[in-house]
Amino acid sequence: MESGLAEAIVLREHGGPERLRLETVEVGEPGPGQVRLRQTAVGVNFHDCYVRSGLYRTLPLPGIPGLEAAGVVEAIGPDVPDLRPGDRVAYFTARYGAYASERLIEADLLAPLPDAIDDRRAAAIMVKGLTAQLLVHRVHRIGPGDTVLVHAAAGGVGILLCQWARHLGATVIGTVGSEDKAEVARRLGCNHTILYREEDFVARVREITGGRGVDVAYDSVGRDTFEGSLDCLARLGHLVNFGQSSGPVEPFAVARLSKGSFSLTRPMLFHYVRDPRELRQMSDQLFEAIGTGVLTVREPRALPLTEAEEAHRLLEARATSGSVVLLP
Ligand SMILES: NC(=O)c1ccc[n+]([C@@H]2O[C@H](COP(=O)([O-])OP(=O)(O)OC[C@H]3O[C@@H](n4cnc5c(N)ncnc54)[C@H](OP(=O)(O)O)[C@@H]3O)[C@@H](O)[C@H]2O)c1
Repeated sequence: MESGLAEAIVLREHGGPERLRLETVEVGEPGPGQVRLRQTAVGVNFHDCYVRSGLYRTLPLPGIPGLEAAGVVEAIGPDVPDLRPGDRVAYFTARYGAYASERLIEADLLAPLPDAIDDRRAAAIMVKGLTAQLLVHRVHRIGPGDTVLVHAAAGGVGILLCQWARHLGATVIGTVGSEDKAEVARRLGCNHTILYREEDFVARVREITGGRGVDVAYDSVGRDTFEGSLDCLARLGHLVNFGQSSGPVEPFAVARLSKGSFSLTRPMLFHYVRDPRELRQMSDQLFEAIGTGVLTVREPRALPLTEAEEAHRLLEARATSGSVVLLP
């Protein structure tokens, strides 16, 4: 590729995965506080599917989707004191633009990568790992004795969430869409798995917990599971709806929470990492969790950047386990 140009996936209209088209784009020189990054692996998130379909209207069109990537610093603009060309870094950004071979990015969003974390894993864990981290430490403080329900337990976020909750002493019940996924989820954190396409997960949760229910239900599936998640809660239980892989949750009567003095939250990662210092602290804590073995990060499924369309199809068809990355 000619210098100053990059390959990128550009979204011009909302719609199906076929809307993700490869184009050549101008990158330009880094301005004050910026670097030019050669991206080696780009994380794919379910969020990208919402952006592509138009469920989320947060990316102005035409635009380049993608929230996270890993790469190597190529060039540095003025006022970037602590990075050098050749440094390996990873990032998460709410400003999109990750589906590209090169990009400009604010230096204070970049987390230097420890040698022990390879680029593919790094690109796969910024959004998902930071999300798991805030879910177990901040949205709900998981501790010994808690019983936790995690939907899509073998998914990108799910598999990290299960491991972290288990490490903090919780008993973890995970729902999964297939026996293969159940096997992965049990190996990496779940005490119990439920095949929620075949079994009534509410009845199984009641059975596993001796009728008590769970202290917290982490629900990223949304429409198909929300009602059941509410029915799984123990007295004073907390329902955390943090995604909608099956579709948005229907309107909800708040008075229903009085059944067990339940609480309901709908957290978004963006709101927890507004400040670059906070982002750096959280990513250091995430890398430490990986370095000390709290989290095992599986090798992500890798596809060429040119196959972004296929990556979205796989994710929406529930055909993935763990994370997917695109390789420019
Ligand atoms: N709030 C935040 O800040 C935040 C941050 C990151 C991610 N998220 C959310 O967390 C969720 C997980 O994200 P991810 O990128 O790690 O994806 P993922 O969990 O790897 O993929 C989605 C999984 O959801 C399950 N699922 C259930 N019903 C589905 C349906 N109708 N269509 C598609 N999938 C369905 C499938 O697992 P089974 O086959 O096991 O059912 C599927 O593999 C997403 O909803 C995402 O939006 C939220």
